[in-house]
Amino acid sequence: MFVPRFFRPECDSAEATPVSSADPGWLDAVYSDEPLVTQFDEDPAATGGNPTSSSTAPDLMLRMLEVLDIDDGHNVLEIGTGTGYNAALLCHRLGDTLVTSIDVDESVTSAARDRLAHLGLFPAVITGDGAAGHPDNGPYDQIIATCAVRRIPSA
Ligand SMILES: C[S@@+](CC[C@H](N)C(=O)[O-])C[C@H]1O[C@@H](n2cnc3c(N)ncnc32)[C@H](O)[C@@H]1O
Repeated sequence: MFVPRFFRPECDSAEATPVSSADPGWLDAVYSDEPLVTQFDEDPAATGGNPTSSSTAPDLMLRMLEVLDIDDGHNVLEIGTGTGYNAALLCHRLGDTLVTSIDVDESVTSAARDRLAHLGLFPAVITGDGAAGHPDNGPYDQIIATCAVRRIPSA
C-alpha cells in the first residue's frame, strides 16, 4: 500500500526502471530490507535524476523507532513523510491525533495523506521545510527525522 512503485537503478543508464505492483519482483523488493527510491527531483514524472524520496530500509526504520522510545500519550513530529509508512506505524502506536508528519515535497505529502486515509488514519501531514519544525502542533515529546540535514536546525 505504501510503496506502489519504486525505481530500480540501472548500471549503464542514468534512467531508472519503474517497478510497480504489476511487475515481477515488486512485492519481494517491497518486503526486502533495502531502501527503495520512490522519487527523483521532487517530480513524480521523473525516472532519473537526483533521488529525493525513498522508502527507508525497514530494519533502519524499526531501529529508529526503538531509539525514539515513544510512550503512550507522546506527541510526535516526523520530519520526512516519504511513503507515509513510518507515519502509519507511529499512528498505529500512538493514535493519529498525536502524529504530525512534514515533508518538503507536496506530491509526496499528497500521496502519503491519501494512503494513510485509505487505512482510516488521519495524522497531520504537512507540506513544508522540516528544518523549521511545525510549532502549530507542538510541543512535541519526540522528534524523528528521516531525512539528512547538514546541521541540527535550532528549531
Ligand atoms: C528517506 S525519505 C522518508 C521515508 C519515510 N519516513 C517513509 O516512511 O517512507 C526522506 C524524505 O525527507 C524529505 N525531506 C528532505 N528534506 C526535507 C526537509 N528539509 N523537510 C521536510 N522533509 C524533507 C524528502 O522529500 C523525502 O520524502
